Amino acid sequence: MAKTTLKLPFSLLFFTSLTLTLATLALTAAETAAYPTIPGTMPTGCSLSEEEVPTPVRREVYENGQIYDITHRITSDMPSFGSKEGLGQYLWLPKSIKNGSLANNSEMKLPSHTGTHVDAPGHVFDHYFDAGYDVDTLDLGVLNGPALLVDVPRDKNITAEVMESLNIPRGVRRVIFRTLNTDRKLMFKREFDSSYVGFMKDGARWLVQNTDIKLVGIDYLSAAAHDDLLPSHYEFLEGREVILVEGLKLDGVPAGLYNIHCLHLRLLGAEGSPIRCILIK
Ligand SMILES: *[C@@H]1O[C@H](CO)[C@@H](O)[C@H](O)[C@H]1NC(C)=O
Ligand SMILES: *[C@@H]1O[C@H](CO)[C@@H](O)[C@H](O)[C@H]1NC(C)=O
Ligand SMILES: *[C@@H]1O[C@H](CO)[C@@H](O)[C@H](O)[C@H]1NC(C)=O
Repeated sequence: MAKTTLKLPFSLLFFTSLTLTLATLALTAAETAAYPTIPGTMPTGCSLSEEEVPTPVRREVYENGQIYDITHRITSDMPSFGSKEGLGQYLWLPKSIKNGSLANNSEMKLPSHTGTHVDAPGHVFDHYFDAGYDVDTLDLGVLNGPALLVDVPRDKNITAEVMESLNIPRGVRRVIFRTLNTDRKLMFKREFDSSYVGFMKDGARWLVQNTDIKLVGIDYLSAAAHDDLLPSHYEFLEGREVILVEGLKLDGVPAGLYNIHCLHLRLLGAEGSPIRCILIK
C-alpha cells in the first residue's frame, strides 16, 4: 500500500445539507479525518481494497455538450475574498464509520460568499438586511431562463463604455460576462487577487439604466472591480431587482445563448449563499 486513497462524493456532500449521511460508500484507506484534496484527483499508488469500488467520475460537461456545469467545486485550495491562504479546511468528519458510528456525518463551515455564489440586497445595504432581503427572497424566475454568455474586452474593467460597446439588445434579462479572470484562471489560484476584472461604478449604473439585465454573472468572486467595490455593488443592488452571481466557472464554454439554471440554498437571514449553476444548450 502506498498513498491514501479517499473516495468521497464531494458534489453530493455539498448539496444535501449541513449534516450529511453517507452510509453506503465503501472506502479503501484513509489516514486523516479531514478531506485533504479532491478525491479522484490524487495520485493513487495502491490497488483497490477487497471491495473494489470504482473511482468516481467527475465531470464539467454532460449529455455530449448539452449541459455545462459552470459551478466551481468547493475545495480548501480555492480562493476566498481577501484571503492569502484561500478557503482552507471547511469540512470535518466528527462522526465516522472508523470511529464506530453507523455512518459518516460531515459538518461544514464556510463563508456564505464562498466560490460560485449569489449576493442578496442585504449584502451591502443594512436597511435591506434588517428588512429581511436575504437569499430566500431572491427571484428564481431571474435565476433561471434564457441567458447570454458574452466575452468582454480583455484590456479593461467593465465601464459604461464597455457595456455600450457590447450592444446587448433590450429584452435580454440574463447575461454572463466572461473576462480576463477566466484567462488568468483566478478562481484556481489560492491567493485572492484584487486585480481581477469587474464592473466599475459607471458600468454598473449603465447596465441598470440602459438594459433589461437582471441576472449578472461573472467569473471571479465579485462582480464589482476592487477599486469600485462598494459603489458598483450599490448601483446593482439598490433597486433590489438585479441578482449577482459571482465566481462562475466559464472555462471552455462557447459564448452564446443558453438556458441558465441557478439554485442557491434557502439560508434564512443570509445575504449570500453558494449556488449551483448550469447552462443548457
Ligand atoms: C474520531 O474521533 C475523534 C474524537 O473522538 C476525532 O478527533 C477524530 O478526528 C475522529 N476520527 C475520525 C477518522 O473521524
Ligand atoms: C467515512 O469515514 C472514514 C473515516 O472514518 C473515511 O475514511 C471514509 O472515506 C468516509 N467515507 C465517506 C463516504 O465519507
Ligand atoms: C481592473 O481593475 C483593477 C482594480 O480594481 C485593476 O487592478 C486591474 O488592472 C484592472 N484590469 C484591467 C484589465 O484593466
